Amino acid sequence: MTQPITGTLRLPARVHFGYGSREQLPELLALHGVRVLAIVDPFLLKTAILDRVLAGIEAAGLLVEVFSDVEPELPAASLAAGARRARAYAPDVILAVGGGSAIDAAKAVALLVTHGGPLSAYYGENAVPGPSVPIVAVPTTAGTGSEVTPVAVVSDAEHHLKVGISSPYLVPAAAVVDPEFTLGAPAGLTAHSGIDALVHLVESYTAAPLDLRWDSTLPVSTGRNAFAEILALQGIQKLGWWLPVSVADASHRRAHEEVAFASLLGGIAFGPTGTHLSHALQYPIGALTGSPHGLGTGLLLPYVLEGCRGSADLEERLAAIGAVLGSGATSPATRASDSIAALIRLNRSIGLPASLAELGITEEQLPAIADLALRSTRLTATSPAPATRDLLLGILRRAHAGRLSERGAA
Ligand SMILES: NC(=O)c1ccc[n+]([C@@H]2O[C@H](COP(=O)([O-])OP(=O)(O)OC[C@H]3O[C@@H](n4cnc5c(N)ncnc54)[C@H](O)[C@@H]3O)[C@@H](O)[C@H]2O)c1
Ligand SMILES: [Fe+2]
Repeated sequence: MTQPITGTLRLPARVHFGYGSREQLPELLALHGVRVLAIVDPFLLKTAILDRVLAGIEAAGLLVEVFSDVEPELPAASLAAGARRARAYAPDVILAVGGGSAIDAAKAVALLVTHGGPLSAYYGENAVPGPSVPIVAVPTTAGTGSEVTPVAVVSDAEHHLKVGISSPYLVPAAAVVDPEFTLGAPAGLTAHSGIDALVHLVESYTAAPLDLRWDSTLPVSTGRNAFAEILALQGIQKLGWWLPVSVADASHRRAHEEVAFASLLGGIAFGPTGTHLSHALQYPIGALTGSPHGLGTGLLLPYVLEGCRGSADLEERLAAIGAVLGSGATSPATRASDSIAALIRLNRSIGLPASLAELGITEEQLPAIADLALRSTRLTATSPAPATRDLLLGILRRAHAGRLSERGAA
């Protein structure tokens, strides 16, 4: 039976991509007023590129206050300080420049300054009551897509987990993706953020359709999305070729440009669509091991796809992914298998660990990880195969051993 076409886009009103696009910032910020709060990733402080960006904004007659106490993993408590600073300064607009953590910090601060705390009041989906101070987002990593997504991820000490705040009101007002900011980044950061972009693209392309009710408030993740499908294969193809190059060479302008563009496509694709099981399983694994988000989602993805195989629909999608990752096989079933083998080779080529065992996870921990992942119902709902406990345990066991099947080697 053919699926009906459904699609949703939720985007910043302006999205600019390209080397030099940061020159647009003064004009974009001025659309919202004169008082700019710049939430800046600490790694950028005292860099020439940030100095020039801030000087350009001031030269346009805007006032800028810089806040850079962005703590990695975004402990919810640390964001209160940013909110106090913001309340005292009363910005017209927030400029966020940094990795996903800095952009998510800006989303949380904008939310707190506009609607008040505690942040926990907004955990989950559609709990934000209305628009917040507008954000102009400038990523310095190529991976999260946070510059265009409706999501902020923070750490909550009480929940011992990363928690998401998802609302269309969190989509920034503008996104400026200038690959210049990603040049010179350490190889590990390029690898872990870039592979997460690939997971966003693959998971949005393989997301199951949801039974949407158009006469009521839509879920933030709307499931299979005709718009995302158009973008995803292009982005996957780019990353398959260019991610290893950008990891190997921090100054390769073309590679960093392609990877940054693919990451942006990933954000546009997964923001209104959602991701699925690699993300659901990574949250508890990240909490247990402290490993970077992308390392976990990237490692898990081939095992998730292999575990979900069985439906004609997923086979067709995997065959298309196999083709853009270079499989020339004539049989669609072989192209589908090749897609998974190509993802494993890609992981190896960028230095990802080959198994959960290498991350220090024990076999005894796997059932608890499966149970925690099952609680992420927003993510399990879009799984391409019903997300049963057995399915998740099978995926985890294979990822733990670093083997795609009980007997075959990865
Ligand atoms: N909001 C979303 O839609 C979304 C999507 C995926 C992931 N996330 C979240 O984003 C976070 C990860 O973001 P990330 O991967 O961008 O990393 P990050 O923002 O956590 O940054 C990691 C480290 O790299 C540094 N850094 C950033 N850019 C750099 C550069 N160009 N050169 C040198 N150092 C640099 C930072 O200062 C930090 O120390 C996680 O918390 C994850 O859960 C959010
Ligand atoms: Fe992700």
